[in-house]
Amino acid sequence: MVLQGLRRLEYRGYDSAGIAVVAEGELSSAKKAGKLANLEKVLADRPLPAATVGIGHTRWATHGGPTDRNAHPHVSTGGDVAVVHNGIIENFASLRAECEAAGIEFSSDTDTEVAAHLLTAAYADAPEGEGRLAEAMRAICRRLEGAFTLVATHAAEPDTLVAARRSSPLVVGVGETADGTAEYFLGSDVAAFIGHTRNALELGQDQIVQIDRTAGVTVTDFAGAAVEPTAYTVDWDAAAAEKGGYDWFMLKEIAEQPKAIADTLLGRLGDHGNLILDEVRLSDQELRDIDKIFVVSCGTSFHAGLIAKYAIEHWTRIPVEVEVASEFRYRDPVLDRSTLVIVISQSGETMDTLMALRHAKEQKARVLAICNANGSTIPRESDAVLYTHAGPEIAVASTKAFLSQIVACYLVGLFLAQVRGMKYEDEVAAIVEDLRKLPDAVAQVLTGMDEVRALGRSLADADTVLFLGRHVGFPVALEGALKLKELAYIHAEGFAAGELKHGPIAVIDQGTPVVVIVPSPHSRESVHGKVVSNIQEVRARGARTIVIAEEGDEDVVPYADHLIRVPRTPTLLAPVVTTVPLQVLACEIATTRGLDVDQPRNLAKSVTVE
Ligand code: F6R
Repeated sequence: MVLQGLRRLEYRGYDSAGIAVVAEGELSSAKKAGKLANLEKVLADRPLPAATVGIGHTRWATHGGPTDRNAHPHVSTGGDVAVVHNGIIENFASLRAECEAAGIEFSSDTDTEVAAHLLTAAYADAPEGEGRLAEAMRAICRRLEGAFTLVATHAAEPDTLVAARRSSPLVVGVGETADGTAEYFLGSDVAAFIGHTRNALELGQDQIVQIDRTAGVTVTDFAGAAVEPTAYTVDWDAAAAEKGGYDWFMLKEIAEQPKAIADTLLGRLGDHGNLILDEVRLSDQELRDIDKIFVVSCGTSFHAGLIAKYAIEHWTRIPVEVEVASEFRYRDPVLDRSTLVIVISQSGETMDTLMALRHAKEQKARVLAICNANGSTIPRESDAVLYTHAGPEIAVASTKAFLSQIVACYLVGLFLAQVRGMKYEDEVAAIVEDLRKLPDAVAQVLTGMDEVRALGRSLADADTVLFLGRHVGFPVALEGALKLKELAYIHAEGFAAGELKHGPIAVIDQGTPVVVIVPSPHSRESVHGKVVSNIQEVRARGARTIVIAEEGDEDVVPYADHLIRVPRTPTLLAPVVTTVPLQVLACEIATTRGLDVDQPRNLAKSVTVE
């Protein structure tokens, strides 16, 4: 049953899996890197005993590579407690040091393992009797920082399962076996148990759930106060459940963007407005010696690099060149020890980017990877890595990984400015504050997408759509055009709006849709007025103008056939919000044309050939 549940969650993407059961006062577990088939092979050779309590996990590596030893469940030293975990325990380093000082030897590189050891100790301290494991879980959750869902079993508690939730999903399923016995499920989403029951309980933030064979479900907060969970009935079928109720993975991933950004910032913004990028294993001296930066990547990741250039140059005054990986290494770029090459890749396996990275290393440049897939080849071969914590991206076209790449680039730029003393502390702190607001800003954009969808339906027969932007709006225009090409198979091009009169304006005909990304009227670069003029120019030649502009920008109103509003955001950070309507637009046009949004023709998620 546990394996079946894990199969149902396979769509989320993972790189190792494991299960643990409690039977006759003993805990047994099995785990293996790779797909579930690998775990099944292990279980075929060494079956676990029959049991009525079990936990399972598929892991998408964050702390520690995707290896057997890092797979969950993690078992405490004495073998009594098994824990599975989603999320990131931010203060794991200090907790691990505390455990090690108490003589505990760790058998993995994960942040999760501390939870198993701490739980064992807390269980020993908790009063004997009913609810002991839940009490221990509450005690450790009060000490954990970060976002986590934890599920634990204890060998001495064969009738109990305990789980905790903070900022990571967890749902409870309540069902019945064929003979009428109550059965309970826990899952990070309902897809895990939809084959057994549609009756679910929703847990809130900072809550602990105990499932007991006789007492059933008990929910408390971290302090132990009783909480009434919200019951609901799942009306999705299994296929819809995998997609969280959305028609496409891409729509689900677009909706996950506020979380993807928040997770990418998590643990990296200090309390004093400073940045903490301990994972970037380049010394302060190495960072100070950098005199030139290349950003190298492909496709959507290349567009993230283009945005990075504006921010990094502005904040650090280090010259930045951005290049597609397939061109970079064939033109003999000038690289040396004081060059930093930032490679950006969602998958970490893109061959062009990998080859560019190897070329940079041969030339003695330092390489920093910004990557979403932990343990993949690109971060492994790089000198340093900053992971985007967007979670697995299933749809072929990149959305949430893109926004988190942009955010990771901001972090790198600000970190360099901080280390090199290019910005005063309060300046860094002010930008950090702006970064913290991005998840909410994106969430706000997402709530207003009905009109964008209606617009998308009206554009389904377009032959060509043009996208215009200036400054950081230019890469956004390129990304909008790429999304439309790859999803809807419609010819689309992105232009720097200032280039319009140097040629592209000739293609504008009666009714040609032109999407314009308008910079903030408050931007210091003052390109706002120029873009408003560009809108008038294309409109005068017959274009149907689709204008993405900040709330309160009234200058654009007379020239916009369609107006899409986004919240006010500092200029350099604006791509994170202005990209979102373009993703939704492309998705809706593709859906209206009856196309497979998740797997567009001719495309692969990870391009592992040159
Ligand atoms: C577009 C898209 C591709 C990838 C590109 C690089 O939506 O997904 O353009 O961005 O193939 O892939 P990664 O980032 O995995 O190196």
